[in-house]
Amino acid sequence: MVESVSVLISREDVEKRIAEMAAELSSRYDSVHFVCILKGSVFFLAELAKDMTVPVTMDFISVSSYGNGTESSGIVKFNKDLDDSIEGKNVVVVEDILDSGRTLSYVKSVLEGRNPASLSVITLLDKPERRVVPVELDMTGFVIPDEFVVGYGLDYAQKYRNLPYIGVLSLKEE
Ligand code: IMP
Ligand code: MG
Repeated sequence: MVESVSVLISREDVEKRIAEMAAELSSRYDSVHFVCILKGSVFFLAELAKDMTVPVTMDFISVSSYGNGTESSGIVKFNKDLDDSIEGKNVVVVEDILDSGRTLSYVKSVLEGRNPASLSVITLLDKPERRVVPVELDMTGFVIPDEFVVGYGLDYAQKYRNLPYIGVLSLKEE
């Protein structure tokens, strides 16, 4: 297979939108405790956190619903839990991309049971056409078509996370 990537959202546009999201979150809350879903959301979180104007703390969880392909297995596995309690905190779950909705709905239901002061969910990218499980979002960076995307933290078989833009991956037979 020959892999190629074409730009869907430029670095400039991604970073501009993230700054807008940070401004909006900073106006909604006095402080924010980010819960970042590893690994894909790390780039989004890092950019977002730098643009926040209220006090911020952060923690990380790892779940997986994907193997090394481009199709969801349908099974969500918990690999790493949070280090700290979220009780009484304004929790904002940070996700890279919402696809079937399985990952976020699972994470949300687990965190809801831990008494946060508030719980909201934001995603950089949303592919609504792919939704299998409904998820209520509090903020979305970009709504995108049903394409497999990489870059800005998103991977294909662990590659391309470091691309500074969001691109569509094409796979062609040699
Ligand atoms: P969901 O559980 O099907 O909503 O899948 C969410 C997770 O699948 C995301 O956090 C990504 O890790 C991965 N994923 C879904 N779509 C894409 C894509 O287009 N590119 C890269 N990863 C994706
Ligand atoms: Mg992910």
